[in-house]
Amino acid sequence: MIISIALIWAVLVGLCCLLWLAVGIRHRQPGEPAVENGFIPYLGCALQFGANPLQFLRSRQKKYGHIFTVRSPGSTSTSCATLSLTIQSSGRADTWTGGSFHFATSVKAFGHDSFDPRHAIPSLIEPMMGHLQDVMLRSDTLRPILYLLAVLQVMFESGYLTLFGKDLGEDKSQARQAAQKALVLNALENFKEFDKIFPALVAGLPIHVFKSAYSARENLAKTMHAEKLSKRENVSDLISMRILLNDSLSTFNDISKARTHVALLWASQANTLHATFWSLFYMIRSPDAMKAAREEVHKVLEESGLTIDPADPSLNLTRDQLDNMPVLDSIIKEAMRLSSASMNVRVAKEDFLLHLDNQEAYRIRKDDVIALYPPMLHYDPEIFEDPYEYKFDRFLDEKCQEKTTFYRNGRRLRYFYMPFGSGVTKCPGRFFAVYEIKQFLSLVLAYFDMELLDPAVKVPPLDQSRAGLGILQPTYDVDFRYKLKSKH
Ligand code: HEM
Repeated sequence: MIISIALIWAVLVGLCCLLWLAVGIRHRQPGEPAVENGFIPYLGCALQFGANPLQFLRSRQKKYGHIFTVRSPGSTSTSCATLSLTIQSSGRADTWTGGSFHFATSVKAFGHDSFDPRHAIPSLIEPMMGHLQDVMLRSDTLRPILYLLAVLQVMFESGYLTLFGKDLGEDKSQARQAAQKALVLNALENFKEFDKIFPALVAGLPIHVFKSAYSARENLAKTMHAEKLSKRENVSDLISMRILLNDSLSTFNDISKARTHVALLWASQANTLHATFWSLFYMIRSPDAMKAAREEVHKVLEESGLTIDPADPSLNLTRDQLDNMPVLDSIIKEAMRLSSASMNVRVAKEDFLLHLDNQEAYRIRKDDVIALYPPMLHYDPEIFEDPYEYKFDRFLDEKCQEKTTFYRNGRRLRYFYMPFGSGVTKCPGRFFAVYEIKQFLSLVLAYFDMELLDPAVKVPPLDQSRAGLGILQPTYDVDFRYKLKSKH
């Protein structure tokens, strides 16, 4: 009996393998990139890629050159260009698109009907500065000795209040304030629960498999129903505009509208939180970076005649002042160079010829997914000397201004830094993201003395489970301590 069941299974598995060999394997046509099908039916190269994305792509780059095709789960084909070269389209920008891929992923993950992310967000800068100071100095978010990941809470609370305002009504009592804080912290817990399974959703698993993440997402959506948002004060223009667009142009129902806000909350926080963690971590760990950053912030404050008073934390830095901080810019860029792993993805809308800047051209099939993996650039020793080392001034030129000239093989590169993606789908929140991290670092430097408990602490390894999705998280936390400065 046992032998016959085993035999049936063996025949079934054998048939599946034969079927895969017959129809599942992709055969390379003339002019196309080399193909790697992987050994496992359906999964293709997913496991090898997942184990160590950078190593996998580097080894294939060595074998095939700058562009090659790998199979990924369920796809008929996936073209994976490593972007070792600058890619130019064949003159027809409409031949490949990121929109449909993002749209499909967002609809799958958030369950709304549509998602229009393109809005201007400069008006977020001033309220963010106020909320950061409230959270850092007026509430008990910070305690004497902390783990650096507490930064996530500071940024989430401030970012949430900046986007969605406060629901205090007439009652501004301490109890009401505490209830408000509890609501935001509850949103943070829901956010974390949902965010944990985001890689699985992007990989195609249905959200209903993850009961607690599903309820976390729905709990967030419940707090963002139109009638709840209408009671909040100081809702950002960004959210107000989206409410208006949802109401006037869409036919969504209330829950779908609320889910578009959850999608924006996720987009605005998921990467920013850990980008802030890494920026602060690397800055405090490098005495040179700390010194240069402190000098820059003090210079800006001095030139603006601003004084620091922790008892009355109401510092405001204008957009121009924030723009005039090249050292902080470089500190943030370098931290993101080392921690970002956002896959840039496009789908070929039709068969087309992809030209690389080394004069080679490759045929790409309709519906192929074209993926660019920025760490291939960010860790390329020809572009960035000692690529695994943190150099706070890597993005500064000899005049201490932003450095934009990076080369490989003697050729100046157009794309050398891509944590925010590229082209038409490039992150619309990228400027605000950098402003808010700069604001946070400026406030840290202005109000606190900070240090790591162990100044020689090793850099926590990156958690690769989110490779492809943005800023990678640390695999463990780091202890640090701080002291509030006196008035100066
Ligand atoms: C360090 C922080 C951030 C990083 C690293 C980051 C990175 C990215 C990346 C890689 C994409 C996909 C781009 C592409 O495929 O070409 C993206 C999309 C997006 N980001 Fe960001 N982002 C950050 C912060 C923000 C913030 C603060 C907001 C909003 C206030 C935001 C809103 C969005 C939206 C709405 C999209 C979707 C755009 C679309 O599908 O067309 N992001 N982001």
